[in-house]
Amino acid sequence: MDQLNERTEALRLRIDAARVPRHIAIIMDGNGRWAKQHGLQRVEGHMNGVRGVREALTGATEIGVTHLTLYAFSTENWNRPSDEVNALMDLLVRTVVNELDELHENSVRLNAIGDLDSLPPGCRSTLEDAMRRTTGNTRITLTLALSYSARWELVRAARSIATAVRNGELDPDAIDERTVADHLATRNMPDPELLIRTSGEQRISNFLLWQIAYAELWFTPVLWPDFRREHLFQAVLDFQSRERRFGLISEQVTPA
Ligand code: IPE
Ligand code: IPE
Ligand code: MG
Repeated sequence: MDQLNERTEALRLRIDAARVPRHIAIIMDGNGRWAKQHGLQRVEGHMNGVRGVREALTGATEIGVTHLTLYAFSTENWNRPSDEVNALMDLLVRTVVNELDELHENSVRLNAIGDLDSLPPGCRSTLEDAMRRTTGNTRITLTLALSYSARWELVRAARSIATAVRNGELDPDAIDERTVADHLATRNMPDPELLIRTSGEQRISNFLLWQIAYAELWFTPVLWPDFRREHLFQAVLDFQSRERRFGLISEQVTPA
């Protein structure tokens, strides 16, 4: 075993299987800076970012995470130069096509959240085929947030709740947290307990605002193409060392 594998394995063994987060969400950031550091074009940074996705997915699967959600393209990312946007869309299609057999063999269910209607038609249909093919898989759900932003999602939820009220299907007084959650793109998913962001930025950038109400946040300076299972395990270990109080006092959550 080489040194990285040994280190990774040592971290993995320290993880308490009974307290692994069910859902981890990741803001994959730093592809452009990684490319610049290596004297490459930004798009090559994105291409190398696929390795980070593989590592995160493998690591999450190994420790029993059941939901992994990756922020792959935000609503705001449409405003990047068009050649970068086009390259990202191409890369997405190619990656889904190339990885699909392996995802399926590993019982990965592929899912996507976001304004999928805004994706190029070929991209959308590739994604939909892949989701259909993997729909029966149960080991882990890999959700790609694509053309996603939390404000887009909340506006859409407000509209759909208002429509239900207008149609007499819903009493406004009956609207509660469950109603809102059920109108989000993440309905049927547990909320993420752990949110990771790479590249040293410490912000949320319009990701899962409702769902991360009580998530633990973990930031690392590692740039996304350099993200390895080791980093995922570090994040999970850090998560397990924290006391999650949910508004209570320490004695209430860990009785003596
Ligand atoms: C993250 O890397 C990938 C996407 C947002 C699509 P960036 O492309 O944002 O990389 P930096 O932040 O410019 O380094
Ligand atoms: C957030 O990264 C979006 C994704 C990772 C897809 P950005 O690089 O777009 O975020 P900002 O602009 O630094 O906030
Ligand atoms: Mg960025």
